[in-house]
Amino acid sequence: MNNVLTNEQINDVRNNVDIVEVISSYIPLTPKGKNFFGVCPFHSDQHPSMSVSKEKQIYTCFSCGASGNVYNFLMDYEHISFIDAVKKCADIAGIPLNISNQQLNNKNNVLYEIYNLSLKYYQNNLNTEDGKQAKEYLKQRHFTNEMIKEFNIGLALNKKDDLTNLLLKKEYNAKVLEKTGLIGKNNQGYYDLYVNRIMFPLYDLNGKVVGYSGRIYNEENANKYVNTMETEIFKKGELLYNYHIAKETHAKEIIIVEGFMDVIRLSSVGIKNVVATMGTAITKNQALLMKRLSNNIILMFDGDEAGDKATNSCIKELERVGIIPKVVRLENNMDPDEYILEYGKNKIIEKLNNPLNSMDYKMNYYKKGKNLKNEFEMTEYINDTLNELSNIDNDIYVELTLKKLSDESGLSVEYLKSKMNKKEEKIIEKENNQKINGYEKAERNLTYYMLNNSEVVELVMSSKPMFLNNDYKKLANKVIAYYNTHHNVSLADILTYLRDDETLVTLKKIMALNLKEVDMKIINGYIERLKTRKNQKNIATLNEELIKNIDQEEKLKKLQEMIELKKEDDIYGK
Ligand code: UTP
Ligand code: MN
Repeated sequence: MNNVLTNEQINDVRNNVDIVEVISSYIPLTPKGKNFFGVCPFHSDQHPSMSVSKEKQIYTCFSCGASGNVYNFLMDYEHISFIDAVKKCADIAGIPLNISNQQLNNKNNVLYEIYNLSLKYYQNNLNTEDGKQAKEYLKQRHFTNEMIKEFNIGLALNKKDDLTNLLLKKEYNAKVLEKTGLIGKNNQGYYDLYVNRIMFPLYDLNGKVVGYSGRIYNEENANKYVNTMETEIFKKGELLYNYHIAKETHAKEIIIVEGFMDVIRLSSVGIKNVVATMGTAITKNQALLMKRLSNNIILMFDGDEAGDKATNSCIKELERVGIIPKVVRLENNMDPDEYILEYGKNKIIEKLNNPLNSMDYKMNYYKKGKNLKNEFEMTEYINDTLNELSNIDNDIYVELTLKKLSDESGLSVEYLKSKMNKKEEKIIEKENNQKINGYEKAERNLTYYMLNNSEVVELVMSSKPMFLNNDYKKLANKVIAYYNTHHNVSLADILTYLRDDETLVTLKKIMALNLKEVDMKIINGYIERLKTRKNQKNIATLNEELIKNIDQEEKLKKLQEMIELKKEDDIYGK
């Protein structure tokens, strides 16, 4: 994939766009000193914890550690491939790359083509004699012809290899057919995976058909829906049903439901700013997709207990990406589809206009089934609520909720607050305990400065301090290799250079340190410190011997030896 472009082209494009301009077209950035700051889109936050450096052409988040160059940002934000990110930047910079769309996605083009064909085929089946019963089923479920057309609903016939034969006749390679998720293979040959089901196409973020959910309609004792398995172009955890339509509404609010049937029903009454999670627990990826649609999210899951569970886990995932959603609960275990059919459009709009805020929803949820006159159950309820509150980064809101809790429990707001603060203190304490020792810090910081300064690289090359931490060692070696071929270091380009390398993880981790510039005196200090680790060689050898199979007593002896050496080193280092 990557070799359609040379490294030179890739770096050239990167040098012709400004990361500050690109990122600020997605999130607002404010200048502060040498850098620009914005709210990081990759974790849950309201504070501007992401810094973007115009000089270095990189971004780092000092809260979640997300970091990279302009390509990394586009890949993670837009969920696109590396090549697509380069292409996007080339477009911005006005640099012609001479790669056609064909080349960009040629690997998957045939899959998209087969999906388009299958879509037409399934749609046509619904209008044939064999489709009468399915049509009848849809009608009975209040699907109009317009709805069938709008959502491209089709039918897989009750035949075992009808689609297979059609595709084979079109001379598609049989190996490719197996990758579509539509065709299976056994020792008798190829066969249709979808038989006798109403077919609901599923779309990727751009609105291309990439999979199906097939529903039973005239049999029992079978799974209600069969979804396409994961393929090159269909990753269920990375899409939301109806995303491409909801996006076009540019609505202030986005409604999340469980089933695509709910989306179709809501859409039929004119509510189109809806997406469906399609039953499974939502992924972080999906939470970010929701956030990309809007910051105002309303969860309207099924009214049953499973819907309560789904609501709770969805709230959690959304809070992690900085969204506090609102919640609508439907009575009598109904889902939105049933609710609209039973009570009509106006009733659901009224519901949507009066959502619960998520904290009230959670308090209701924690209260459910509890007898608050019982002290023990009341304690549980208070603890659950305080636990939730300690995650919320909004003082006024916290205060208002504590007041509510105080009214319910008879405990004072001050007391409740003190209980909440204790939790926070514990977390901070834990973070402080994760300090690293002086040697590791020297290795880490040296590697960090190597990324930005060729003088540091040369010094490390000539003085050869010994690294014991394998991650830093590997990365430092990669930087040296880069320097040897490029004769300079540029963090933004090294990010591209190491894009498929295992050291990228370490790189991103230490990038987020955002260390300030230092002069060579400090760098020399790090190198000296690593040299004082006089026992390092012995420790390394002992370590190797330990891995070898030696008897228990010997092992203990060597371990003891190692501990002594390390202790000695630590005293040296301080
Ligand atoms: P539901 O069971 O709530 O479906 O599952 P629904 O929307 O009410 O469908 P009808 O009204 O019975 O036809 C919600 C979602 O979970 C997924 C589907 O994506 C569905 O939209 N699901 C459900 C499956 O994938 N497989 C199943 O067997 C059931
Ligand atoms: Mn339903």
